[in-house]
Amino acid sequence: MNNLISMRDLSKAEILHIVDVAEQIESGKIKVNISDKVAALLFFEPSTRTLFSFDTAVKRLGGKTLIMTGTGNTSVKKGETFADTLQTISQYVDIIIQRSPIEGAARYASEVVNIPVINAGDGANQHPTQALLDLYSIKKTQGTLENLKIGVVGDLKFGRTVHSLCQAMSEFNPEFYFASPSHLRMPGYILDDLDEKQIKWHEEREMDSFINDVDIMYVTRIQKERFADIEDYNKVKGSYVMRREILSGVKSNLKVLHPLPRVDEIHTDVDDTEYAYYFPQAKNGVYTRQAIISILLGEV
Ligand code: CP
Repeated sequence: MNNLISMRDLSKAEILHIVDVAEQIESGKIKVNISDKVAALLFFEPSTRTLFSFDTAVKRLGGKTLIMTGTGNTSVKKGETFADTLQTISQYVDIIIQRSPIEGAARYASEVVNIPVINAGDGANQHPTQALLDLYSIKKTQGTLENLKIGVVGDLKFGRTVHSLCQAMSEFNPEFYFASPSHLRMPGYILDDLDEKQIKWHEEREMDSFINDVDIMYVTRIQKERFADIEDYNKVKGSYVMRREILSGVKSNLKVLHPLPRVDEIHTDVDDTEYAYYFPQAKNGVYTRQAIISILLGEV
């Protein structure tokens, strides 16, 4: 692994290695010290979890961070190209962690610089570190990644986290149940990938039809910022809301995951049930990102 750009770039063995290193970092069995290393966090889209958990991960490993949350105060304003900006920053730091609204931006960055690049989300395309922390959370709560039934609900078209999640979980023989507004269905290229790997998937209208059968319910927000026309968003907002009552017949091992932020798709009355796992899931992001950084910097 030289970079982490897309889940498609990772083998099953590499995924399991990251999960294993994250477990050992959390338990204290592996201690990594990167006190001589600096990470650049280049975030050109809003973020709470990914930005702060990466910042925390680098600092817990003993490293330092430079944070850029826009180009307004940089020499991009004087006409410097993004490629030159990246090349310059790469002279100062050891690793670049980048979020961009542009699909393919992380791949581009990895081709411009000679240090590792981590994709912290590129448009509606990929969010591989989210998928890896999701897998870490699934393994932690289910004891395995193999042969699980997974419900995926919400904006499956623009939700980059679910694209990465499906690709990552497809290494572990899952059965997927998808529910979304009809205009926000899972993209064909993801479904084709699942078919190629002979992974079972079903498209349902409502989550009620499968919630009692699944081990994981992965709920996502409608991605308002990806709609060209706000009226199209208004037609689908609030389509899926999970309330406490729907959990009355679920499997005892069910966990409800959500990459967050949530708007209204999980009612707060779910938060104090035994099934809610979205805030511990966010915490797992620190261990997983510590593992990814340690591996890319050649420390484990
Ligand atoms: N899950 C996630 O990417 O959250 P942020 O947008 O807050 O980073």
